[in-house]
Amino acid sequence: MSEIILIAAIAQTNGVIGDRGKLPWSIPEDLKRFRQLTLNHTVIMGRKTWEFDLQKRPLNQRTNVIVSSQSLTSNLPNVEFVRSLSEAFDRSDEKLFVMGGASIYRQALEFVDRMELTIVEGDYNGDVYFLEWRDRLDEFQLVRSEQRNGYRFETYCR
Ligand SMILES: NC(=O)c1ccc[n+]([C@@H]2O[C@H](COP(=O)([O-])OP(=O)(O)OC[C@H]3O[C@@H](n4cnc5c(N)ncnc54)[C@H](OP(=O)(O)O)[C@@H]3O)[C@@H](O)[C@H]2O)c1
Repeated sequence: MSEIILIAAIAQTNGVIGDRGKLPWSIPEDLKRFRQLTLNHTVIMGRKTWEFDLQKRPLNQRTNVIVSSQSLTSNLPNVEFVRSLSEAFDRSDEKLFVMGGASIYRQALEFVDRMELTIVEGDYNGDVYFLEWRDRLDEFQLVRSEQRNGYRFETYCR
């Protein structure tokens, strides 16, 4: 069975994760960590994250699985469209990284084995929030926390 890993960067104070289709902050080390963790694995994302964040350019050296209710297709290598989250999870890959956005995080939360979070300190304006992870924290154990300047990396295992 695949390990399902939710990977997200979240504003600590209000749970903001996005602003007009983009990340509200620029943290190069977070992007580096995201790449290190996900490289050579499968990333699962919602159609909006695919269109607005990635601008329909797949992450290289990863299988990009995009969830949409529409019947979408692509000729790009390493890009697959699925019609439901359960279809996205129905894969034999070793690790499946759920990389957002908010609607996908919310639906995936009950299935995830691990969360790799970047908790960003301070106030950020945005229009997309993911706060529900806090409601389920009693189901998880914090196994690692690494403080950086203005943010920290936290790993939670179920
Ligand atoms: N901070 C972070 O770590 C992070 C990571 C990723 C994204 N984000 C931010 O999150 C925002 C986007 O999040 P979002 O919630 O608006 O959109 P999203 O989750 O990226 O995409 C939503 C779309 O996914 C499809 N979808 C969702 N659930 C589905 C289901 N069960 N079955 C079929 N299709 C389904 C639908 O596409 P159709 O409409 O085509 O059916 C839906 O409109 C952006 O601002 C982005 O920057 C932040």
